[in-house]
Amino acid sequence: MRVAVFSTKPYDRDFLDEANATAGHDLVLLEPRLSVETAALAAGADAVCAFVNDDLGEPVLDRLAASGVRLVALRSAGYNHVDVAAATRLGVTVVRVPEYSPHAVAEHCVGLMLTLNRRIHRAHNRVREHNFALTGLLGFDLHGKTVGVVGTGKIGVCVARIMAGFGCRVLASDPYPNPEALAVGVEYVPLKTLLAESHVVTLHCPLTPETHHLIDEERIAQMRPGVMLINTSRGALVDTRAVIRGLKTGRIGHLGLDVYEEETELFFEDLSDQMLRDDDFSRLSTFPNVLITGHQAFFTQEAMHNIAATTIANLDAVERHGPDGVTGPARVC
Ligand code: NAI
Repeated sequence: MRVAVFSTKPYDRDFLDEANATAGHDLVLLEPRLSVETAALAAGADAVCAFVNDDLGEPVLDRLAASGVRLVALRSAGYNHVDVAAATRLGVTVVRVPEYSPHAVAEHCVGLMLTLNRRIHRAHNRVREHNFALTGLLGFDLHGKTVGVVGTGKIGVCVARIMAGFGCRVLASDPYPNPEALAVGVEYVPLKTLLAESHVVTLHCPLTPETHHLIDEERIAQMRPGVMLINTSRGALVDTRAVIRGLKTGRIGHLGLDVYEEETELFFEDLSDQMLRDDDFSRLSTFPNVLITGHQAFFTQEAMHNIAATTIANLDAVERHGPDGVTGPARVC
C-alpha cells in the first residue's frame, strides 16, 4: 500500500522502517504537518498516516478523499483531531493505535509531579551555578496526600497504581469505574469532591465536546488552595487563561503540562531562534511553579516501537481484508 506519512521526524523514520521491513508498504515519509495546504502531498497515495497535531478536519478529508485516499492510519490513541462524521460520509476508514504504552505517559506524569514538588528543575540550575542554597526548594511528602485521577482508562489506572504505591489516597472520577482501579484501592467520587479533596489533580480523560475546558474558572474555584494540576492528556481539557488567573491568585500552587491548548503551532519544532507570538504560553513560562514539556509523555522506545508496529499491522489488515480488517478499539470509523 502507498502511504503518505505526515509529520515525520528522523526518529519516526527509524521505528517505521524497522516495523515495515517485512511488510514492505511504500511509505512516503513527509516532514510537513497535514493541513489544507499540504494535503496535495498525498496525491497518488492509498492511505495517509497522521500524528496528533495533523489537521483531519472536513476540508482536509474532502481533499484527501478526492485524491483517492481511502484510509487514515493514526499514529496516536487520541482522535479528537479527526472529523469522524466527515470521514464516515466520505467513506474514509480511520484506524488508530489504541494502546502503545500507558506506562510511558503515566511515568512522565509522575515525573512532572515529582519535579514540580521538589523543584528539581530549579535545583539542577542552581547547582550548575554552584548555588547550593535550599531556600525556595521546600516540597511536601506525597505519602499520605490525596491524588485525584480524572479518567481511569489505560493511562489513569497506571497513574493510580503508581500513586497508591507512594502511599497516597487515590480518588477518581470516571463515568465508567475501572475494576483494575478499584483493585488498587481507588475511591470513585463525584468530580466536585475530587477537586475539593485532592492535593494533586491529574487529567487522563479524552478531549471530547463534553470535556472541552473541563478545568475552567468554576472548577478551579472548587479546588484545594495550592493544588498541583497536571495535564498530560489534551491541552483543551484546560482553559489556559483561567489557569493563568488561578496561578496568579495562588489557588493553583503548581502546574505541570505536557500538552497545551494551542500547541499545534509550537510543539515538535525547534523554534529557539524565533519570537514566540503566543502570549498565554509566554505568560505560563514566566511562573516558577509551572513546568511544561512539549508533548513528550509518549516518547519512550517501547511506545515508539509499539506505535510503529500497530500502525503497520493496521495497514496490513486493511490491505488484506479491506476496511473491516481492523475491528475493536483500533477502528475509529
Ligand atoms: P482510555 O480511553 O483508556 O481512557 C480514558 C478514560 O477517560 C475512560 O475510562 C473514560 O471512561 C474516561 N472519561 C471519559 N470522559 C470522562 C469525563 N468526562 N470525566 C472523567 N473520565 C472520563 O484512554 P487512555 O489510553 O488512558 O488515554 C487518555 C488520554 O491520554 C487520551 O485520550 C489522550 O488524549 C492522552 N494521551 C496523551 C499522550 C501524551 O503523549 N501526552 C499519549 C497518549 C494519550
